[in-house]
Amino acid sequence: MSATVTAGVHPGSRVLVTGGAGRLGRSVVNELMSAGYEVVSVDRAHTAVRDVRQIDLDLLDTAATREAFIEIAPDAVVHLAAIAVPGALPDADVFQINTQLAWSVLEAAVAAEVGALLVASSPTVIGYGAPGGWQPTYLPLDEDHPIAPWNGYAVSKAAVEEIVQMAVRRYGERVRFGLFRPCYVIAPEEWHGARTQQGHTVAERLSDPRLSAVALFNYVDARDAGDFVRAWLQHCADVPNGEVFFVTASDALVLESTASSLARLVPSTADAAASVAGNSGAFSGRRAEQLLGWTATRSWRTELITASPIDDQEASRA
Ligand SMILES: NC(=O)c1ccc[n+]([C@@H]2O[C@H](COP(=O)([O-])OP(=O)(O)OC[C@H]3O[C@@H](n4cnc5c(N)ncnc54)[C@H](O)[C@@H]3O)[C@@H](O)[C@H]2O)c1
Repeated sequence: MSATVTAGVHPGSRVLVTGGAGRLGRSVVNELMSAGYEVVSVDRAHTAVRDVRQIDLDLLDTAATREAFIEIAPDAVVHLAAIAVPGALPDADVFQINTQLAWSVLEAAVAAEVGALLVASSPTVIGYGAPGGWQPTYLPLDEDHPIAPWNGYAVSKAAVEEIVQMAVRRYGERVRFGLFRPCYVIAPEEWHGARTQQGHTVAERLSDPRLSAVALFNYVDARDAGDFVRAWLQHCADVPNGEVFFVTASDALVLESTASSLARLVPSTADAAASVAGNSGAFSGRRAEQLLGWTATRSWRTELITASPIDDQEASRA
């Protein structure tokens, strides 16, 4: 796959997406298909996305995963499958499953001779919300900020980032690797009232800012994150191998100014928060903008206004 390594992965190429049935995966699959990629979703659940080739598979089964990847013969792999919610299982299980998934997918991707592998990490590696207190070195947070994971999920993602850096050293001459840390992902139906990952609606997160203060008001529209994946695939040969990117909306998911909301609800950030301008996010998307030419195009300010209220049942059929 040396052509891919030198020229990026372009529309018409075959991209295997693990976790294509998930909250983020559905939008990644849709965005890549719309951009002209041939997409194969590999997930133990069936994706609601129409007209996509699907393989139902437990990616923890390393032999079956390797066999499936070789049979699919993708040009690139986007690895999203994970236990995606902190605390969904005991910490040790989340750590074991997420790291095992990363090993399984990495080894299968290398065996299938893919040209590029992009892996989902998480902004939680930074360590905000730690029960013992957390203080940013500076704000807005960028990818150079020190990490300090404090739960099984966050430390699983920190370990996955290290697995990818190991792979860069080992296979970097023939494979392009990337990592992205999507902020709190809002799926399209969630603008219409469906529940977000933590069980609240977007409107509830806005009316009670304590709900999203724990994540420093971060968020990103799932379709924007899907478009980030497209941008990375196209430019992966032009950016440092193994580069990590925050994938964030440009603004914060809070009604008042970001700095005053942070100072009020996350007092340990108050000093650093003074440098966050207006409604800007506490996370910087500058690296993705500079290296990939990608920025989020959607904001809750426009998406909530254009969304009409529908109930969860309708949303799940959408
Ligand atoms: N949703 C967010 O706000 C958010 C934020 C930061 C990072 N992330 C990361 O992005 C990725 C996608 O998150 P999401 O919100 O779409 O999660 P999700 O739970 O909605 O989707 C994950 C998908 O992975 C699949 N999966 C899990 N274990 C599997 C296995 N053993 N074999 C096959 N498939 C398996 C699930 O069936 C599911 O469809 C994850 O890696 C997550 O950690 C998500």
